[in-house]
Amino acid sequence: MTRTTGTGPARTGPASSGPTTPRTAGSRTAGEFQRLYGAAPEGVWAAPGRVNLIGEHTDYNDGFVLPFALPQRTEVAASRRTDGILRIHSADTRSGVVTLDVSSLDPAHSPKGADGWAGYPAGVLWALLDADLPVSAGADLHIRSEVPAGAGLSSSAALEVATALALTEAAGLRLSRPEVARLARRAENAYVGVPCGVMDQTASACATDGHVLHLDTRTLAERHLPFDCAAEGLALLVIDTRVTHDLADGAYARRRASCHAAAAALGLDALRDLPPAGLEEALGRLADPEQRARVRHIVTENDRVARVAALLTAGRLRETGPLLTEGHVSLRDDYEVSCPELDLAVATATAAGAYGARMTGGGFGGSALALIDAEAEAAVARAVTEAFARSGFTSPRTLVAAPSAGAGRLA
Ligand code: GLA
Repeated sequence: MTRTTGTGPARTGPASSGPTTPRTAGSRTAGEFQRLYGAAPEGVWAAPGRVNLIGEHTDYNDGFVLPFALPQRTEVAASRRTDGILRIHSADTRSGVVTLDVSSLDPAHSPKGADGWAGYPAGVLWALLDADLPVSAGADLHIRSEVPAGAGLSSSAALEVATALALTEAAGLRLSRPEVARLARRAENAYVGVPCGVMDQTASACATDGHVLHLDTRTLAERHLPFDCAAEGLALLVIDTRVTHDLADGAYARRRASCHAAAAALGLDALRDLPPAGLEEALGRLADPEQRARVRHIVTENDRVARVAALLTAGRLRETGPLLTEGHVSLRDDYEVSCPELDLAVATATAAGAYGARMTGGGFGGSALALIDAEAEAAVARAVTEAFARSGFTSPRTLVAAPSAGAGRLA
């Protein structure tokens, strides 16, 4: 079940409501597992989707990101098997039970992109075994997700992180959360074939309730900054444009390659090493206008993350709004990863009173985020829905996202 609607906003609970464990706390998923496989699971684990407040496309440039975990989670009920068979079932697809021979899991023949959903849990088991971790070379898994798929809210990271926790903790291993994130990302990079950075899996594994995660993607140093919207009378409205994005399609990889080529041309390890004060001089040394625009986005975006983090630390939440909107303009014009639906969502939300708004995630579709007065939620959502209708776009879904807890064991 997703707590989203096709026509208007759906509340996901107040921002300051303590740990956001789903009401079922895994019992529904455990019951379904038992009916499916004939025995109770060894446990149920959950991991959330994420929204990135700001810091987009900076993670593969060793830069800074500021994501938070959604209340919506993916639950994985799991039991180990000892016969080399991996069985996977999802309550959210009609695929039935997918049965795989673990010894034949092979990145070269894995399903590509989000369509092959079973590739994510299969890739995680492959990554754990490839890292020589003492997990069982087989399992029964049943998956149930609240994270909207294809909405740029990291449903794949949620599935990977929940599976990695399930398979390691069922085997009695207690890996650190960053290590769980690293293994989950390896599954996505090496098995599924999406060259994503470290942000999504780290947010899902490491975020804490009521906070955004300030992550230095080079050192992996974490700072958990309070973001209590409700106390300020604010809300974060997520607008899912319903334009599905597929990071495996090459545009993401091209942005990444362009950044790495620019860093090399400038003699830097990564664009993170270029400070705002050195930007103009560096741009003068790059001949390609497209590369210059990409570099400008990364350098200014890292700076915006620092400025948003400083405002949050000072408790000045509202004042982050203009920086969010500036970030959107940079992603639209310099990084060229927006689309008409995202631009319309941002323009309409800000015209309807949002303090700021931006696309969030990889782009080319997915979701936008708007910082609004909590009481304006219905009005902003209605304005966006009406603007989409006037433009002939598919009706967007909206939800209010309160920063929530990262992954954990439910039962
Ligand atoms: C996707 C990737 C992340 C990050 C964002 C853009 O979500 O999975 O690693 O690069 O795009 O910020």
